Amino acid sequence: MKERILTGIKPTGIAHIGNYFGVIKSSVQMANNSDNECLYFIADDHALTTIYNAEEMKFNTYNIACTWLACGLDPNKAIFFKQSDIPEVFHLNWILSCLTPKGLMNRAHAYKAMVEKNTANNEDKDAGVNMGLYNYPILMASDILLYGSTCVPVGLDQKQHIEIANDIAKYFNNKFGDVFVYPKELIDQEVCTILGLDGRKMSKSYNNTIQLFCSEKELQKSVNKIVTDSRLPGESKDPDCTLSKLYKLFTTPQKHEEYKQKLIAGMGWGDAKKELFNVMNDYISPMREKYNYYMAHPEEVDAILNDGAAKARKIAQKVYNKVLKKVGFSK
Ligand code: TRP
Repeated sequence: MKERILTGIKPTGIAHIGNYFGVIKSSVQMANNSDNECLYFIADDHALTTIYNAEEMKFNTYNIACTWLACGLDPNKAIFFKQSDIPEVFHLNWILSCLTPKGLMNRAHAYKAMVEKNTANNEDKDAGVNMGLYNYPILMASDILLYGSTCVPVGLDQKQHIEIANDIAKYFNNKFGDVFVYPKELIDQEVCTILGLDGRKMSKSYNNTIQLFCSEKELQKSVNKIVTDSRLPGESKDPDCTLSKLYKLFTTPQKHEEYKQKLIAGMGWGDAKKELFNVMNDYISPMREKYNYYMAHPEEVDAILNDGAAKARKIAQKVYNKVLKKVGFSK
């Protein structure tokens, strides 16, 4: 049995190196493995809970699509599409809403965090909460269940959403008979270990990211900003410093070992940064070229996503028709 692997990518920002090594690289590898059937989509409807600007939504969507294609996602090996192109998912979302207890949504992390923040600020507990945010986990369950996904790779912050998808699948299957497959989560451990400019986990919320497809100059600037200690050239450095941990991602174990030895032997931070920039840039350059190509050819990206949507809908129809039958909407 093939694994049916599905994941959604929210188009809310520009990809950084943490995103690449945390999610994109392994997702591309999974798609290249013929034991898997992969569906990857841009979760633009989920992004609508926070983005209320058509230009921004469009730019972010192309940006994510171009990033994944540039990173080697082969549209012949993974079905790559936009969530908003699949009408079935929104009907399923309603059907599943009618089976989901409100209390389950009250316990969802993102909503709970808003309520806690509002309470701490002496505001109405639901201030700033729209129904899209509140119902977010149901739409995500619909995404997952519609395609009979067996495996959902996500970051740790999304673990509860997969549990909720399983709960909702159970409510439906218990009431109407078995239709939905129970998905397992696949938590990528590496996500936690990519370090940012200040040595903490690379994250947009810490403002310590290095963009994946910035210009060479900007990449150089970012590398120069990586925080080091004040040891002088000639003094021995920590071989597990932030520079070394980043270097490791872009090269072979052997070259990494050589880099570590040079640090121990007293290589200056300036030279260490130069070497890091060089391996990063060598690794990223061919992908950056592809990225720039796709960004300049949106019509090619549209064609890929349209083709992906048609394939995804074909898979979706199977589960969708079963659901319609079970609830009494079809003859
Ligand atoms: N909620 C996910 C995120 O914030 C995106 C997402 C939407 C998703 N639907 C999904 C992820 C289905 C996995 C499966 O990143």
